[in-house]
Amino acid sequence: MKALEITGGQELSGTIRVSGAKNACVAILPAAILSDEEVTVCNVPELTDTDALCEILNSLNVSVKRASESVIIDPSKMINVEITENYSKKLRASYYFMGALLGKYKKAVMYFPGGCSIGARPINLHLKGFEALGAKVTNDRNKYIVEADELKGANICLDFASVGATINIMLAATKAKGTTIIDNAAREPEIVNIATFLNNMGARISGAGTSTIKIQGVDSLHKCFHEIIPDRIEAGTYTIIGALCGKNLKIDNIIPEHLDSLISKLIEIGVDIEVGQDYLVVSKKDNYKATTVKTAVYPGFPTDLQQPLTVLLTQCSGKSKVIETIWENRFMHIVYLNNLGSDITIKNQTATIIGPTELKGVKVVATDLRAGAAMIAAGLIAEGTTTITNVEHILRGYEQIVEKLTSVGAKIRNKEI
Ligand code: EPZ
Repeated sequence: MKALEITGGQELSGTIRVSGAKNACVAILPAAILSDEEVTVCNVPELTDTDALCEILNSLNVSVKRASESVIIDPSKMINVEITENYSKKLRASYYFMGALLGKYKKAVMYFPGGCSIGARPINLHLKGFEALGAKVTNDRNKYIVEADELKGANICLDFASVGATINIMLAATKAKGTTIIDNAAREPEIVNIATFLNNMGARISGAGTSTIKIQGVDSLHKCFHEIIPDRIEAGTYTIIGALCGKNLKIDNIIPEHLDSLISKLIEIGVDIEVGQDYLVVSKKDNYKATTVKTAVYPGFPTDLQQPLTVLLTQCSGKSKVIETIWENRFMHIVYLNNLGSDITIKNQTATIIGPTELKGVKVVATDLRAGAAMIAAGLIAEGTTTITNVEHILRGYEQIVEKLTSVGAKIRNKEI
């Protein structure tokens, strides 16, 4: 079994370059099939999620050529076949093929998507959006058939500002007849990047990044060149690591405003952070202050950073709280942080952290992607050796994390156990 072994106590200095955003990439690759011609996407992170999506593209006879950080996708000879359960459950984002295939062929056949076990992760809002556009959804256990004689623009108001549903409805509406309005749309930066990609292919989308997105249907989409934005969650994870054990650690290739909620929280705690045009420099300081963090939809504090941030809160003096409002099961890392020596209790959707506490290396499990990142952050400051298993979760979302951390002085290595 793949594992990571970390010897804590090293001071990290130097530069970490942030890769392309996983949560933009996993929508852009499926969205590429909407084009009638070849598209080129650059700054594509090398992740197992990216590999899984390329496998699904190949299963649809879409040619995928990878050249370092770029991917050339040619859907001109693609076929609309069922996406098997084996492929569908590889990752949550497989469901973007539902919106893309419906938008292109008015028919999609696939299975319930996979993804981290941080909640039930229903897709009812996606399906309601497709039905509003005129599609019929047939669901037989895990299998979904979504088809329409015609897709017509509609006014859709989301019960919750769901990232996935916003994107999936945008994909299905791109070639619908007439205009679609999505109200209470999610505002995450990845949605803006995906809308920009679609517009580069000839779509007519406005309002992405606000709560109201307008999509005027077009007949066809064409070739384009597109760049994926830097990954704000990867950047935030390394910034938190810098606050734990960095000395002038530079996090390069970022869009600072995408990290506003994290940066203001770190300043409140007492972290030494200097923000530049497209980078930040962070150093560990002493006497961090406890605080309360409540996760929210963008531009609020991102749920994807609450798990790594919890490690920093174990080093803050006093009582901190993390209130998780997005996912019902996103505290699976807490038991392992307590095994390392932290003092955290959970009541309903609130984790209470008493700090500071000394962490001592033990064997821990990466229960999901961002919990795994939290285990790495903890291992970097724990005394002695921390061994992390189930690291496949981590490799889904952090490109070359071992190499990046090693390059700035961390003692971390892959291990077979
Ligand atoms: C995206 O998931 C991200 N994943 C998640 O990041 C992130 O945590 C989440 O957005 C929130 O920011 C990708 O982009 C691949 P949602 P998504 O739809 O789209 C409920 C990571 O670590 N909901 O905004 O699945 C849902 O249960 C991952 O990179 C419905 O009820 O999130 C949850 O409570 C983890 N019905 C809330 O909305 C639906 O049809 C947020 O879900 C859809 C969602």
